[in-house]
Amino acid sequence: MMIIEQKQNLSFDELDELVRPAPEVVEFEEVAHKMVSRRGFLSGGAAVGASAFVMGSTTLAAGKAFAAADSAESRLAFSMVKANTLDTITVPEGYKWEVVASWGDPLFSNAPAFDPATGGTGASQELAFGDHNDGMAFFSKDGKQILAINNEYTNEKTLHANRTDGMPINADDVRKNKAAHGVSIIEVDQRGGKWGIVQDSPYNRRITADTEMDITGPARGHKWMQTSADPKGVVAKGTWNNCGNGQTPWGTYLTCEENFNGYFTASKDFKMPDDYKRYGVSTEGRYDWALADDRFNLDKEPNEPNRFGYVVEIDPLDPTSRPKKRTALGRFKHENAELAIAGNGHVVVYLGDDERGEFLYRFVSKHKYLAGGNNRDLLEEGTLYAAKFHDNNRGEWIALTPKSTGMTEAEIAIHTRMAASKVGATTMDRPEWVASHPHKVEVYCALTNNSNRGVKPNAGGDETPATGPNPRVKNNFGQIVRWMPMNEDHTSAEFKWDLFVLAGNPAVYSDANAGSKNINQDNMFNSPDGLKFDSKGLLWIQTDGNYSNEKDFQGQGNNQMLVGDPETGEIRRFLVGPKECEITGLAWNANKTAMFISVQHPGEDGNSHWPNGGQSVPRSSVVAISREDGAVIG
Ligand code: FEO
Ligand code: CA
Ligand code: CA
Repeated sequence: MMIIEQKQNLSFDELDELVRPAPEVVEFEEVAHKMVSRRGFLSGGAAVGASAFVMGSTTLAAGKAFAAADSAESRLAFSMVKANTLDTITVPEGYKWEVVASWGDPLFSNAPAFDPATGGTGASQELAFGDHNDGMAFFSKDGKQILAINNEYTNEKTLHANRTDGMPINADDVRKNKAAHGVSIIEVDQRGGKWGIVQDSPYNRRITADTEMDITGPARGHKWMQTSADPKGVVAKGTWNNCGNGQTPWGTYLTCEENFNGYFTASKDFKMPDDYKRYGVSTEGRYDWALADDRFNLDKEPNEPNRFGYVVEIDPLDPTSRPKKRTALGRFKHENAELAIAGNGHVVVYLGDDERGEFLYRFVSKHKYLAGGNNRDLLEEGTLYAAKFHDNNRGEWIALTPKSTGMTEAEIAIHTRMAASKVGATTMDRPEWVASHPHKVEVYCALTNNSNRGVKPNAGGDETPATGPNPRVKNNFGQIVRWMPMNEDHTSAEFKWDLFVLAGNPAVYSDANAGSKNINQDNMFNSPDGLKFDSKGLLWIQTDGNYSNEKDFQGQGNNQMLVGDPETGEIRRFLVGPKECEITGLAWNANKTAMFISVQHPGEDGNSHWPNGGQSVPRSSVVAISREDGAVIG
């Protein structure tokens, strides 16, 4: 009786857990539990020597970290911002913020002003800043300052404020929705001391779900890529769900297609192939684009989903250039694309697949980077690897090749998840952004959370034991793993790893869910997502997590941005965002006096009026942060 009553109140995940119980606590989990014990923290550095898995003993000493935290030794030269649930941005004393660009801002003077009552039209949105801005990068040319910014997805309730159920009802609504996605390239400058868009700049450009782009790499022309509009399988139309990003030393922008699957629909009779199920394609997408575009109707265009889920390379300094889909970097729910030039000249791109129990990848270019040379197509050919982590703090990169997978190169590029499953890669707790240390051969990845860890396998049937860098069953809080390639070589087959931080709540828990030693009741957070290093080698950490401020998340407030010192483990909260937003994306201007971030989906549940206040509709926006004294910030 009790159990039945309880079941009625359970979420899908909770019910799933009840039906399919988590495995018994494994030996490693007990080890992990000890690693992060609060006793270890409270006794200062005493337990650190045994804590090989968390904040490895070779690089971090927690005792030192906490001694440094509030002293002149700290490299985090600001007073920590307290967690809060305000509908504004909070930054440390001595810092200020301002909005640079918001969803719907016109990029051109012939475009109408933003209309909050309707969210605009298809035509106005095609000339305006997109919705839900996310990853971004800064470029400069001839004194001009240019930002390339992802527009990941949309808030239908505000985008279609004039439609009662917030869904497109006609072709122009679909056109508007597609145009709110993609990438916005804008020239920005400061006029009268205020940052803003330079209207009519020749660099201003919208790339949307309808922009033509070339398919390059192993998947180009493959039969799975062929559609009625593109029978050769060489030209894709558009990009969407552009989440994190990357930037190359040859001056291009990388935009990463994440949850591309949610845009397709089909009749109940459509027989969903297994490979579509692995990627989450279903008969009921949430956007209704099929209402006005047959590409999104699987009954009519069954191959269209194979043309999405890639990294797209864009030259933001040439507005006439065609974007290129780089299928050599694999097809999955791409988070960001962190690029490093290895000592031997090969280009290495680290890539996360943000799905519960999916994998972490590395691309190594076939050809070498040559400073000042023609590097334009280095991302067209190379080898993909998937990470396998071992419990002894070692790991290896396993090449995805025809030999190791039994698949052709094109099949590996299109069905990358299946290729990585075949080689036994480690199922991860949703790999989000990867960041490569600017002064060391050391790489970090945010593993945001994973309600399925230790509970059920991934969509390909790979088990998800709570071991290695994913040590907690039903992980609510997330962690940041880092690895050091052997011989300080990004192309090495092997690496050492440890955890930089296990997020948690020490006010609620005294076990592993309290977090690692560098987490306390003042700096705690959940769900690390965006990661980026500044020029000093400090790690900026952005969150996209639970902002309920209750139960497990009590005292953690709104989503936020923190800074971590990789040398000491110290973490301080730098910024708190407005209600119901995510903080994501990070770029600096050329002299590093301004830092740009994305405030995405403020008021996604209808409880924010940021940034315009009053009773205004909330708008995702790019924000510039600077010091009041004009000094360098990062
Ligand atoms: Fe778009 Fe994985 O965040
Ligand atoms: Ca993200
Ligand atoms: Ca996110």
